[in-house]
Amino acid sequence: MPTTERAAPALMTMIDEVRSVVSKGTSEAETGQGVADVISRYVGQVTLLQPENREGDPEAYKQHILHVEPDGSFSIVCLVWLPGQDTPIHDHVSWCVVGVHEGEESEERFQVVEANGETHLEIEGTGINPQGLVVWLSPPGDIHRVTNTGDGKTISIHVYGADINVLGTSIRRRYDLPVKA
Ligand SMILES: [Fe+2]
Repeated sequence: MPTTERAAPALMTMIDEVRSVVSKGTSEAETGQGVADVISRYVGQVTLLQPENREGDPEAYKQHILHVEPDGSFSIVCLVWLPGQDTPIHDHVSWCVVGVHEGEESEERFQVVEANGETHLEIEGTGINPQGLVVWLSPPGDIHRVTNTGDGKTISIHVYGADINVLGTSIRRRYDLPVKA
C-alpha cells in the first residue's frame, strides 16, 4: 500500500518535483537526467523516510512502495538490504533512477554472451556505489546484481517509469545463467 497520504514533507516535495519532470514528457534521456537531479537533492535526508520504510527483512532484501503516480507514469520505492543480502541478476521494466540513501551498494554489471550454441553471462564491470550517488539507467544493457557487502543497512531510492502497483516489481527478467570470466 503506498504511504503517500502520510508521507514526510520531504518525500511529498520530492514526489512533486519528480512529477513536474516526468509530466513534461520529454525524451527518456532528459527525463532520466532530470529525475536524477531531483533525487540527488533528497538522498541522505534523515526525514525522507518513515521508520517503517527503513525496515529490512531477514529473509531477503525488501521493497517498500513510497508512491505510485495515479496515471501510472512513475513509481517510487525504497529498497532495504541487510548485510550480505543481494538481488538476483536482473534487468528492468523501464527507465530507472537509483539514489543511494544510506550505506553503499556493491554492483556487478553483466552482458549476455552467446557462444557455441550456449548462453552465459560475463561480468562487464563492478563497483561500489557510495551514499549520495545517483544514477539513471535505461534498458536494454541494464543487467546487474546489487549486494550489500557492508556491515550495516543499505537503503536506496528508486524511481521507475512504470506502474509498480500493476507490475509488483521493477524486475523484467531474472538471468539464472552461468557466469563466466
Ligand atoms: Fe536493478
